[in-house]
Amino acid sequence: MIKKCLFPVAGYGTRFLPATKSMPKEMLPVVNKPLVQYGVEEAIEAGMRNCALVTGRGKRAIADHFDISYELEHQISGTGKETYLNSIRDVLDQGVFTMVRQREMKGLGHAILTGEPLIGNEPFGVLLSDDLCLNDGAGVLAQMAELYNQFRCSIVAIQEVPVDEVHKYGVIAGESLKDGIYRVDEMVEKPDAADAPSNLAIIGRYILTPDIFDIIRDTPPGANGEVQLTDALQTQARKGCVMAYKFQGRRFDCGSVPGFVEATNFVYENYYGKD
Ligand code: G1P
Repeated sequence: MIKKCLFPVAGYGTRFLPATKSMPKEMLPVVNKPLVQYGVEEAIEAGMRNCALVTGRGKRAIADHFDISYELEHQISGTGKETYLNSIRDVLDQGVFTMVRQREMKGLGHAILTGEPLIGNEPFGVLLSDDLCLNDGAGVLAQMAELYNQFRCSIVAIQEVPVDEVHKYGVIAGESLKDGIYRVDEMVEKPDAADAPSNLAIIGRYILTPDIFDIIRDTPPGANGEVQLTDALQTQARKGCVMAYKFQGRRFDCGSVPGFVEATNFVYENYYGKD
């Protein structure tokens, strides 16, 4: 059973300035819940109760969110407003939160490596909270954790995207084993449409085996001059040790304003006030 999930939450969120000037982008609310809490709930649902946050400067609000606010608890205790705290109280009851600071932004691979002391030598999930995934059945990480029990190797979540958008993603190619499951043989980070091996894009959900840390240490900077997780995974893929999985559920790109607005409308219409 995979018990830990790593959350890289050190990024700047420039596309949401000025909202993200002093507030972490992961705290932007989709209706009434911060993006990062959706991610943590998905991880906990998958059994990954140990949440390892790779944070950075200016991100204290995230650490505070996953802690008790005594003043708030005191103020609303015994009033009808207590129910507003139910979802975060559930998260605090079930989750354990550890944190490490990433001092310099050197890419997703670097963020993952920064989290190594919180993970150790065991397989773990990775969740990028910009990618909000909603599903009425099991969440995406739960689906992937089940797949891990079958394959025992790294797994990336994928989705088909329009060819003119592949340059925003890590893109895979591989052999289709059965419906929606591929053994990956090629992975490229942010390719030009002409060079992309397919239109199967990596979405921000991963299960990684812990040998990834040593591989990242040996991975030189790639696209955008950053240490890319996709490049490290390509080393595992060459040994046949990466699977890609077309997940069940709907994904919103909350790293972009249109995706964020779309998610907000969808959550308001389909989930708000219904739990
Ligand atoms: C990261 C990964 C990329 C992946 C994407 C999913 O890119 O590097 O492979 O496709 O997340 O959201 P970023 O969006 O951080 O540039």
